[in-house]
Amino acid sequence: MLRSLFSTIMTSAPKRVPIPKNGVDYRGKVVLAPMVRSGELPSRLMALKYGADLVWGPETVDRAMIGTTRRINPFTSTIEYTRIPSNIANNPSLSEPERTSLANVIFRIDPAREYKRLIFQMGTASPARAVEAGHIIGADVAGIDVNAGCPKPFSTSGGMGAALLRTPDLLCSILESLVREVGSKYEIGISVKIRILETPELTASLVRRLCQTGITGLTVHCRTTPMRPRERAIRDQLCMVGTICRDHGVACLANGDVEGRDHALELAKEFDVDGAMIATAAERNPSIFRADVDGGPAPWTTVVPEYVQCALEVHNRWNNTKYLLSNMIPGKDAAYKKMSASKCYSDLVQVLGLENLKELAAEVDERLGISNKANINKGTAAAAAPSGAPAVEKAKKANPSAKAAGGEPILPHKDAPKQEAREAKPPAATTAATALDPTLSINTEQLQPPAQSFLDTNNAPTPAPMRQSVSA
Ligand SMILES: Cc1cc2nc3c(=O)[nH]c(=O)nc-3n(C[C@H](O)[C@H](O)[C@H](O)COP(=O)(O)O)c2cc1C
Repeated sequence: MLRSLFSTIMTSAPKRVPIPKNGVDYRGKVVLAPMVRSGELPSRLMALKYGADLVWGPETVDRAMIGTTRRINPFTSTIEYTRIPSNIANNPSLSEPERTSLANVIFRIDPAREYKRLIFQMGTASPARAVEAGHIIGADVAGIDVNAGCPKPFSTSGGMGAALLRTPDLLCSILESLVREVGSKYEIGISVKIRILETPELTASLVRRLCQTGITGLTVHCRTTPMRPRERAIRDQLCMVGTICRDHGVACLANGDVEGRDHALELAKEFDVDGAMIATAAERNPSIFRADVDGGPAPWTTVVPEYVQCALEVHNRWNNTKYLLSNMIPGKDAAYKKMSASKCYSDLVQVLGLENLKELAAEVDERLGISNKANINKGTAAAAAPSGAPAVEKAKKANPSAKAAGGEPILPHKDAPKQEAREAKPPAATTAATALDPTLSINTEQLQPPAQSFLDTNNAPTPAPMRQSVSA
């Protein structure tokens, strides 16, 4: 009797691919999509702050990771994978510390706030290179996802991204190699992100094969490769993909035109999949991860100051911050024009009226070597933030573990010549960072609207409370 009950339970229990110790289950999750440029660290941290359960890093090509140096930034306590451009590496007039200070950051992680919540997305068309890159990043992330959906020529021309949908043997071989050699070693999950194919039969056949590679999760972008982002997502195949994944014990996330947390959960229920992934809506406003019951999305007037503070805390690349702000601030608002005209963080916080961030902005401009670009109060940024300014010293003192953890210090800007060159030629792929130091962590409650703020002109509603917990 007991045996037959046990056997009934066993046969009716849904099949589940085991989730490795350091990995995460994608089931029940609403996640931030991988986005080149728009998925840098401040965007990921904002998404997490507002309730994203997991965040994907922007696609980073295997070759870009191979040969990087891992170090800890002593000012932000972030893990950085850096590469010194060859013209700098081979420049005999530069000292070793000078070269180090000019390294490009290829990928940056906040080991505290992204702990167990960051999935690294890889662009690859080679099992061997995927494994090599996987060994570099494996110990710092909760999972590795293979991009098999990007239709852009820079990806497909190398056989990566959506081109892999046409070479399923290669795609399966990449996934199997990663599962066997990287996933098992670092005890993390391997997953894949695909697009739907032209017919349900083709999609089904591909998904069945992918589910047999040992992956723990699969995201399906409900558009075909030729479809443009403005075309509405097609969800006709979603239920079928979810069923095949479930039959194999693989978690399935839906992607395409998902507008926020509540919408994501509705879709997951309607199409019987495990969760959903959001890109464009989160790029516009990362607070869309907050459920209506917790206050729903915050207005841009709330999100923008928070984002700026976050970008400053992690020393995000200036051009990237501006790009993200151009997505968040409505083009018709006066703040958009002011933001566009600003040349560095000091300009930005001044035109946005974020007086409380002035000192930090000056320090970060100095670190990034852009303080001389300021339109406003030209010259005062550097004066306001001499090397060894209090907040920077505080960050260094508060993070003795940074050095102990094996990181090489990043030199302050005063020791770094040719910063102009660095600005003029931004890194090919950059991902941002954040601080372990609680005094530098995002705390929107501490963000007081300044006396003469751009917020004043917009009748910004009172921000609703943050969603603090992460759903299981
Ligand atoms: C700015 C931007 C960058 C993107 N970069 C990537 C990427 O690096 N890897 C990837 O798999 N998809 C990338 N995508 C596609 C998104 O992850 C997502 O599949 C697509 O935008 C559909 O989701 P949405 O309708 O929520 O925008 C990108 C999309 C955008 C808008």
